[in-house]
Amino acid sequence: MERVIVNDVAPRDGLQNEPAAVSSADRVRLVNALVHAGLPAVEVASFVSPTAVPNMAGADELVAGLDLDRARFSALVPNRKGYERARAAGMRGVAVVLAATETMNVRNINMSLGRAVQVCTEVLQQARHDGLATRAYVSTAFECPFEGVVADSEVERLAAAMFAAGAEEVVVADTIGAGNPKRAKELFGRLVAAFGPSPLAAHLHDTRALALANAWQALECGIRNFDASAGGLGGCPFAPGAAGNLATEDLVSLLQQAGFHTGVDLAALLSVVEHIGTLVGRPVGGRSLPWLQRRNGTQNRCGG
Ligand code: HMG
Ligand code: MG
Repeated sequence: MERVIVNDVAPRDGLQNEPAAVSSADRVRLVNALVHAGLPAVEVASFVSPTAVPNMAGADELVAGLDLDRARFSALVPNRKGYERARAAGMRGVAVVLAATETMNVRNINMSLGRAVQVCTEVLQQARHDGLATRAYVSTAFECPFEGVVADSEVERLAAAMFAAGAEEVVVADTIGAGNPKRAKELFGRLVAAFGPSPLAAHLHDTRALALANAWQALECGIRNFDASAGGLGGCPFAPGAAGNLATEDLVSLLQQAGFHTGVDLAALLSVVEHIGTLVGRPVGGRSLPWLQRRNGTQNRCGG
């Protein structure tokens, strides 16, 4: 059975955009529950300015509460300071974030596109030197909420720059869920032709119920690394219109049906999704949740 790696970003992308912060202790429990459910990789936190994203404060404390040998953990770092904090906390993997347009970089990390490329390059080089695993997001890869459609050639150019800087993986991110299956096939096909499938990952927001269809296109292009968020939580506070991520339960159930091995125990994952509902104080869950709950014989306590 062919393996697909699912990286759950609920503790970071999922919780960064919630109205209320979740404590570091609860975030540690969430990460552990995801690992217990079989997720091989989890983006646990971001080391960003607590003024910019208050919900991500306490990342250092969160990481101190984790057993770092249990899974492939990564943290988002927007700049050198974030990188130094992540490294001091003991993180073994970091992800830099570069948006594909000028305006989105300014809104998100207060840098021009050129400056963002420079800062991401420096952080990636330092991380490689220090022996950390490295990912680079190329955000707004389909469309920017401020500048509109992004050219595939620009995404390829930025991905190439991130690989050249030392990114082991480039994560193609549809920040506002603007992609569609036709475009996804073209973009992922182009990137796979340029870089091969193995160092690429897809991070898809599900604003218009197209994330799963776009993930399928990425899969058909050969990509075997996906971000997803348990319960479908997520969104970037600086990208108007960004909705939740592709729900991990939706992706995993599709992958399992299609004969791929993920290592994820769907029944355990459903318990995590219900738990997230209690953490954020409202029902959460992907589109497949009621269907999965019926098949697993679990009670629908999240109202999904
Ligand atoms: P800035 O104001 O330009 O930063 O913000 P600065 O360098 O001028 O410093 C200002 C203050 O922030 C200073 O403190 C710094 O020390 C502090 P002061 O001297 O005033 O007390 N500071 C920091 N503190 C903690 N950690 C840091 C850090 N850096 C500076 N790393 C900055 C620039 C990048 C910091 C800010 O804009 C920021 O934190 N942005 C984060 C944005 C963010 O988290 N966005 C969401 C994640 S990205 C996303 O969701 C997309 C993704 O999911 C993919 C997709 O879907 O597309 C990944
Ligand atoms: Mg995202």
